[in-house]
Amino acid sequence: TDSPIALRSLVPEDLLERTPSCPFDPAPGLAARRGAGAVQPVELRNGARAFLVTGFDEAREVLADSRFSADRVRYKDATKLSAQEVEQLAAATERGEPLRPADVQRNDGMFIFMDPPEHTRIRRLLQGQFTVRRMRALEERMTEIAAAHIDTMLAGGPGADLVPAYALPLPSQMICELLGVDYADRQAFQDNTTVGLNANSTDEERGRALGELYTFLSGLVAHKKEHPGDDLLSGLIHESDPPLPDNQLIDISLVLLGAGHETTANMLALGVFALLQHPEQLAAVTTGPDAIDGAVEELLRYLSIIQLGVSRVATETVTLGGVDIPAGSTVMVAVPETNRDERHLDAVDELDVRRGRVPHLAFGHGVHQCIGSQLARVEMKVGFRELFARIPGLRLAVAAEDVPLRNDMLIFGVHSLPVTWN
Ligand code: HEM
Repeated sequence: TDSPIALRSLVPEDLLERTPSCPFDPAPGLAARRGAGAVQPVELRNGARAFLVTGFDEAREVLADSRFSADRVRYKDATKLSAQEVEQLAAATERGEPLRPADVQRNDGMFIFMDPPEHTRIRRLLQGQFTVRRMRALEERMTEIAAAHIDTMLAGGPGADLVPAYALPLPSQMICELLGVDYADRQAFQDNTTVGLNANSTDEERGRALGELYTFLSGLVAHKKEHPGDDLLSGLIHESDPPLPDNQLIDISLVLLGAGHETTANMLALGVFALLQHPEQLAAVTTGPDAIDGAVEELLRYLSIIQLGVSRVATETVTLGGVDIPAGSTVMVAVPETNRDERHLDAVDELDVRRGRVPHLAFGHGVHQCIGSQLARVEMKVGFRELFARIPGLRLAVAAEDVPLRNDMLIFGVHSLPVTWN
C-alpha cells in the first residue's frame, strides 16, 4: 500500500526520467508540456486518466483545498482502481458526470495518508516535538558528524564516492539521534533502513529488513517508555495527551525514517553535483555565511527531487485552472514544473544562488507540508558548508554524463558520485 511508489510505476517514463546531459532539468516529457496549461490531463499506464498540475498557484490551490484528499487508500488513487473502475471513470468523465469511487476503503495507515481532523491530531503532537531548541542542538551535532565523515574521507583519499561516504550517513545519523537510537544499535538499524528503502533490493530482502526494523522500533518504543531520554520519540511517548498507541508510534518512526533519509541524502549528493557543474555558483556559495541559506532554497527549487511524488484524489468534481477535474481523479503535482513557473520567477531554468526570494514547492504546501523542512535545511546548510570549506579542490572523478542517475527511483538524485581532490 505504498502509494507514491506504486503510482510511480504507472506514470509514463518521459515524465520522470531525466537526461544524462542535463540531469538537473525536469524530465523531457514535462518540459515538452510547458505552455500547454497549468492543469493537464495525462494517461497513466493502466489506462486511468489523471491530472498533472504544473502551475505554481494551481498546485497551492490543490494542496490547500480539502476537496482534494491525501487519503489515497480511502478514495482509491489510480493505483487502486480495477480495470473495470478505470473504464467506469473514463465513461463518466466522457459524459461529464461526477463519479465517486463506490466502495470507499478504510485507512488504518500512516498519518501522511490521512485528512483532517485525524491528521491534525497526530501532526500537532509531532510538530510539538520539532522544537527550536531541539533543531538548534541538532545543528551543532550535525557539524560534528559532518566533520567526522570528512576526516574519514580525507584519510582514505584522495577519491571517494560521496553518496555512501557523506550524503547518506549524515541524514541517517541525524534521524538516529532524533529518535534516540543508541550508538551500539546504530549499524544494524542503518543497514536495515538502507535495504528497506532501496527499490533495488529484492522483495524478500526488503521484507526482511522492514520486518527487522519494525521489531527494532517496537523494542525501542518499549524501552523509551521505561527509560525516557531527551529525544523526539521519548517526548512523543511521554508528552502526548491522550497517549499515542504503540502501532502509531512505530508508524510515525518509520515515516520519519523514510521521509528523512532519502530526501536529504539525495539533495546533498545532487546538490554537490550541480554546484560542481556550475563553478561560478559554487564560488558564490562559499563567499559568506549568509550565502548558503539562499543557495539551499535555490537548490531545492532548481533540483526538485520529489518530481511527481505529491499526489491527491479529488473527492468531488473541482474546476481548477479552467479544467474540470472529475471526482475520483488522481491529481499529481509536477513539482519540478511548478518550481519553474515563469509567472513567479525570471530565468527559471538558471541555477542562481543569489536570487533574493525563491518561491518553491519543494516541501509541498498546506496541512501536509514537510514537517522536517527545518531539519532538512540545517542538514543541507551544514552538509554543503563543511564539505566545500574542508575540501576546496573537490571535483568530479568521472565525466558528468557517467554519473549514474536515480531514474529508477521515486525520489530523484544520483546512485553514486565519484569525487576526488588534490
Ligand atoms: C512531507 C519533501 C526532508 C519528514 C513532505 C512533503 C514533501 C517533502 C514535498 C509533502 C508531501 C505531500 O504533501 O504529500 C521533503 C524534502 C526533504 C524532506 C525535499 C529534504 C530536502 C524531510 C525530513 C523529514 C521529513 C528530514 C524528517 C524529519 C516529513 C514528514 C512528512 C513530509 C513526516 C509528512 C507530513 C504530513 O503528512 O503531515 N516532505 N522532505 N522530511 N516530510 Fe519531508
